[in-house]
Amino acid sequence: GAEVVVNGSSSPAVVDRSNESIKHHIQPASAKWRHNQTLSLRIRKHILKFLDAEKDISVLKGTLKPGDIIHYIFDRDSTMNVSQNLYELLPRTSPLKNKHFRTCAIVGNSGVLLNSGCGQEIDTHSFVIRCNLAPVQEYARDVGLKTDLVTMNPSVIQRAFEDLVNATWREKLLQRLHSLNGSILWIPAFMARGGKERVEWVNELILKHRVSVQTAYPSLRLLHAVRGYWLTNKVHIKRPTTGLLMYTLATRFCDQIYLYGFWPFPLDQNQNPVKYHYYDSLKYGYTSQASPHTMPLEFKALKSLHEQGALKLTVGQCD
Ligand code: CTP
Repeated sequence: GAEVVVNGSSSPAVVDRSNESIKHHIQPASAKWRHNQTLSLRIRKHILKFLDAEKDISVLKGTLKPGDIIHYIFDRDSTMNVSQNLYELLPRTSPLKNKHFRTCAIVGNSGVLLNSGCGQEIDTHSFVIRCNLAPVQEYARDVGLKTDLVTMNPSVIQRAFEDLVNATWREKLLQRLHSLNGSILWIPAFMARGGKERVEWVNELILKHRVSVQTAYPSLRLLHAVRGYWLTNKVHIKRPTTGLLMYTLATRFCDQIYLYGFWPFPLDQNQNPVKYHYYDSLKYGYTSQASPHTMPLEFKALKSLHEQGALKLTVGQCD
């Protein structure tokens, strides 16, 4: 089969200068970019050999029952029991079954989105994916409002909702969940043991308040499959980020994929400081050895795909 070069020497625009943001220079949004349909289809086919987004997007009700024991993917020695609530919230059929979209947006959380004015453009896509319950209302001009799928790492409950210590924080989370208005809420519940209680709290809140969301809990094999795909393309990621997972899944059901808010660097292309997240004051941690992610490496791969027309990265202002 044909191999797609995503991290090889064929990437022409990578000039090795010490400054990361110069090294990753990307043409402004208005510059010529053309979708490469042949390549996109080839990538879709190749990824399908590793995973099937329709299946791997969520474990289904038919495959688990309350009381079943699951080993956490990153903490193999730790287990969890499938609770009644989790069981109730497992979808009966894949939320992506037979779904197909002409264009999709995947919105990462980089501060590069601030003052981008990309909100309108993002909202014109047929399917919009967001990460980690990132707020939209206050940033609509730059990030848009439309949300068809949003991810939620259990750690978000700690980071953005103070571990629901009191009624105010519980209410805040509840409002955010209500605002999702029936879209897909994707919770990686089986990754790391640290999220055990947090996932249960969210499940309980959704059921108790009859929140209208389509819950999805990624399959146990998804992470390794995604990693495997990228490894065969010589992208040696430690643990794929949510953003990369979303891109890999989206190739299955989106014809054209547009990425916004992917910029894991502290300076933008004009050497101005960029916040790690557009909505909070979290600092860059990806460079530390302890971080499980290899974001700049992922970015390099995505950039190469951008140059080949397989996806479009927007890292500046929208027209
Ligand atoms: N991202 C990026 N540049 C940043 C911040 C985020 O490219 N400065 C992308 C990454 O792909 C990331 C996604 O946007 O997975 C969502 O961001 P965030 O919620 O910050 O993800 P993290 O919690 O940092 O990482 P993860 O959920 O992947 O563990």
